[in-house]
Amino acid sequence: MIEFKNVSASYDGELAVLKDVSFTVRDGDFVAFVGTNGAGKSTTMRLANGLLKPTAGEVLVDGVPTTQLKTSQIARKVGFLFQNPDRQICCNSVREELMFGFKVLGEEGPAAEARVDDVIARFGFDPQEEPFLLNRGTRQLLALASVIVMRPATVILDEPTTGLDYRECQKVMEIVSQLNAEGTTVIMVCHDMEVVGDFAKRVIAMTAGQVVADGPTFEVLRDPQVLKAASIIPPQVVEVSMALDRSVASCPAAVAKANTLAEMAAAIAQSVKDGRSSASGGERGLGASVGEGRSDTPAAEAAQAVNREGDLPAGTPSVGGEAVADLQSPANREGSR
Ligand SMILES: Nc1ncnc2c1ncn2[C@@H]1O[C@H](COP(=O)(O)OP(=O)(O)OP(=O)(O)O)[C@@H](O)[C@H]1O
Ligand SMILES: [Mg+2]
Repeated sequence: MIEFKNVSASYDGELAVLKDVSFTVRDGDFVAFVGTNGAGKSTTMRLANGLLKPTAGEVLVDGVPTTQLKTSQIARKVGFLFQNPDRQICCNSVREELMFGFKVLGEEGPAAEARVDDVIARFGFDPQEEPFLLNRGTRQLLALASVIVMRPATVILDEPTTGLDYRECQKVMEIVSQLNAEGTTVIMVCHDMEVVGDFAKRVIAMTAGQVVADGPTFEVLRDPQVLKAASIIPPQVVEVSMALDRSVASCPAAVAKANTLAEMAAAIAQSVKDGRSSASGGERGLGASVGEGRSDTPAAEAAQAVNREGDLPAGTPSVGGEAVADLQSPANREGSR
């Protein structure tokens, strides 16, 4: 468990970079830190792993203040993936790189070798390869693997997907997600709200060195005040559902609260079905106007509402059976990243 109690921090002893930050990350949680550049996210991570000590308040790892722990003691519990993987890579081969943490702790031996073998197999690495000759995505995976191989109870990942293409991003996040499913606590800084929406259970939003929101992922990502305060653009599905909810009087509840592609697709499909089956009057489904060519229908209103906000190209939200199928295609998801 990691606790921040009224933490303030400074790099030069004068300017407060963090101001009165408090939160608790419990074992097994998956928390994403979001917010603008310079909000203090990386600084918060440095405090969590003891590289930086607070100027006021306390940071506790499993109940012990980091000021009373050596960096090596914290490192056993909290693994850290730097914002730039090249700051982490220092050896001449993939295998050496993965052994490095054990070497520093004086724990080389058969058990360590076995763990390295396991990680090499899991990631599909060539153990003899030279780390700096690997591409950016594989270097990121190697840096992540060198953290994971130590099996810390908590991993802190500072922008683990920045600079990666879609497939590399998915690979990194699948590994992180699996770790979390196996019980590892994950704390991740991330600017990609699609990734945050897909993987984080909880979001902490920061602005100017302070926490402005802390709650379940989609509660935070759907709060207009938080979005504005932390300059966050929510995942596209959330943005569309919020725009429809704001602009369409008869917007079905399931569409208005859809957070994922699957939820939105199901909500639209149901709405289209309801619209087709309602012969006259009453509440119409969102898709009731599909193909009718009218401009005063819920679907047309929705399209206008979304387009007014510059979210999607003209015509995109013309909901119907085919559009729902398109929404679910991997190519469409790739394009949204
Ligand atoms: N090593 C440092 N020395 C002095 N000031 C620093 C240092 N690192 C960060 N800062 C300052 O602390 C503030 C918070 O920076 P931090 O790196 O924590 O932000 P961030 O939220 O991680 O931003 P980004 O999204 O750009 O990575 C910024 O004003 C930054 O300029
Ligand atoms: Mg940062």
